[in-house]
Amino acid sequence: MNKEQVLKLLEDVKYPGFSRNIVSFGMIRNLFIDDNSAKVELNITSADDTIKSQIMQNVESKLRDAGFQTVSVLITGEELTGQPAAASSQMAEQGLLPSVKYTIAVASGKGGVGKSTVAANLAAALMTQGYHVGLLDLDVYGPSLPMTMGVSEVPKVLPGNKLLPIKKYGMELMSFGFILGDDSPVIWRGPMVAKLVTQFLNDVQWGDLDFLIMDLPPGTGDVQLTLVQKLALTGAIIVTTPQDLALLDVQRGANMFSKVNTPVLGIIENMSYYVCVNCGHHAEIFSKGGGERESQRMNVPLLGRIPLNEMVMQAGEDGEPLAIHHGDSEIAQEFGRIADQITQMVIR
Ligand SMILES: Nc1ncnc2c1ncn2[C@@H]1O[C@H](COP(=O)(O)OP(=O)(O)O)[C@@H](O)[C@H]1O
Ligand SMILES: [Mg+2]
Repeated sequence: MNKEQVLKLLEDVKYPGFSRNIVSFGMIRNLFIDDNSAKVELNITSADDTIKSQIMQNVESKLRDAGFQTVSVLITGEELTGQPAAASSQMAEQGLLPSVKYTIAVASGKGGVGKSTVAANLAAALMTQGYHVGLLDLDVYGPSLPMTMGVSEVPKVLPGNKLLPIKKYGMELMSFGFILGDDSPVIWRGPMVAKLVTQFLNDVQWGDLDFLIMDLPPGTGDVQLTLVQKLALTGAIIVTTPQDLALLDVQRGANMFSKVNTPVLGIIENMSYYVCVNCGHHAEIFSKGGGERESQRMNVPLLGRIPLNEMVMQAGEDGEPLAIHHGDSEIAQEFGRIADQITQMVIR
């Protein structure tokens, strides 16, 4: 048996209490195989020792059944940075986001590429298709949801210090911007960011949601790291512009997610081409096809291309996403097609 076959075999070992298996949770840290011996290093962060021993036993008996005579299974330390999503299961055990079915992170290599705009419109597109949707703005450095959704009120605090999301346009909204205010310092130190994110995941009382769309800060910083450590995200979407497509940041972002076994559902190319407002002509101001090439190279689908368009920007400034305000526009339809692909990928 080779490594791949053994991994396949270990996909039968479920994480206790979950339908997901230990391989998809990213818990196999190392695997050494030769003719009749197998050694597996697992990375499990559960505080519950019975979970650890149950997994170890299951792995061991799988390998023995497969004919390995010498089997060793160890649990290694937890110092790994990009920790598996299942660190997560620990949190899931604690009931983190219990009312949310699918969590989708919207990420980008750098700022200003339209990540927040895409997150808001994607959430809106899913909502118009009849799903219950929440939008969580986790951009501690530059929260933009208050503006893109035109929210100026402060969320209610319920007994037990739970924060109630703001309901607008048929969606549930929460942003650091709702509570930080405009004059809070922008420079958050790492440990503080981790604490804020954790608190947000714990303390926001979402309704029953099909999708929670999370607008991340750009890059691969503390927010991202905290998030993937705490949650088994359903998937991630990467927003990029044509100019930045080939940049390492995009690849780095994708790598971060795949390292923790969060599937990258696809790339959205924003400000892709220009549509003339007068005659409707599509001007390819960047070389076309870059998005397709890059997504093929990275082996993830190109979910869609959104043009550079005044209406998109205006809608953001007016506090109502274009996918709602101009629901039958060509661009809203493109967001609808992106939403279709995502629902097909994640809903089983
Ligand atoms: N497709 C687009 N056409 C025109 N303007 C856009 C488009 N996408 C985003 N913008 C504008 O670009 C600016 C940055 O977008 P934003 O979504 O805030 O980016 P990010 O969240 O990546 O920093 C905003 O002013 C936004 O309205
Ligand atoms: Mg933003």
